[in-house]
Amino acid sequence: MADLADTLNLEARSGLPEDLRWLAEKYPREDWQAHQNVHGMASMWLQRHAMFRELGAMLSDGIGNYREGRLDARSFANWFAPRLNYFLGNLDGHHNVEDHHYFPVFAKVEQRLKRGFEILDADHHLIHDALERNAETANAFLKALAESEDRQRFAADAYADENARLVAMLSRHLDDEEDLIIPLILDRGDRALGID
Ligand SMILES: [Fe+2]
Ligand SMILES: [Fe+2]
Repeated sequence: MADLADTLNLEARSGLPEDLRWLAEKYPREDWQAHQNVHGMASMWLQRHAMFRELGAMLSDGIGNYREGRLDARSFANWFAPRLNYFLGNLDGHHNVEDHHYFPVFAKVEQRLKRGFEILDADHHLIHDALERNAETANAFLKALAESEDRQRFAADAYADENARLVAMLSRHLDDEEDLIIPLILDRGDRALGID
């Protein structure tokens, strides 16, 4: 993994650095859906990301409902566990495909964006660690449901903090990844990129 400047760290930056934004400026986000090359890979990518954003928000809402007493511990656990597993598993799978299949192809086609793919790759490592912490605190919380009310509250708070951090990291990563990749796909088309 390439060393990144601290300012490019996922939890420190507020977007892609200027020198990686020339394609994003040529293809602004509000024009993406009207572009003929959006159908295919770009749409699939955006839909997948929309699903991760939605699931992340759903888990945050769910934990909020439990902490505010709108759901009892047992019903919350039944609702929460399968959704969390789906979220964590699919996110990890998505990043694997990006790292091993798509990013190397894109970085080769457009060398000037290579550093962007290194940034995204570094993000994946940080998100992977966050997913592990998320799973650990979630398991501790699910175990605490058999314990005292105090233990439950404590474990729920710890999980909620981890989840909020993960959702914030993910939101930054998804936006920046889209700003790097979607303009490239629109500019070249699936076929020229060798991904159709
Ligand atoms: Fe990614
Ligand atoms: Fe992605």
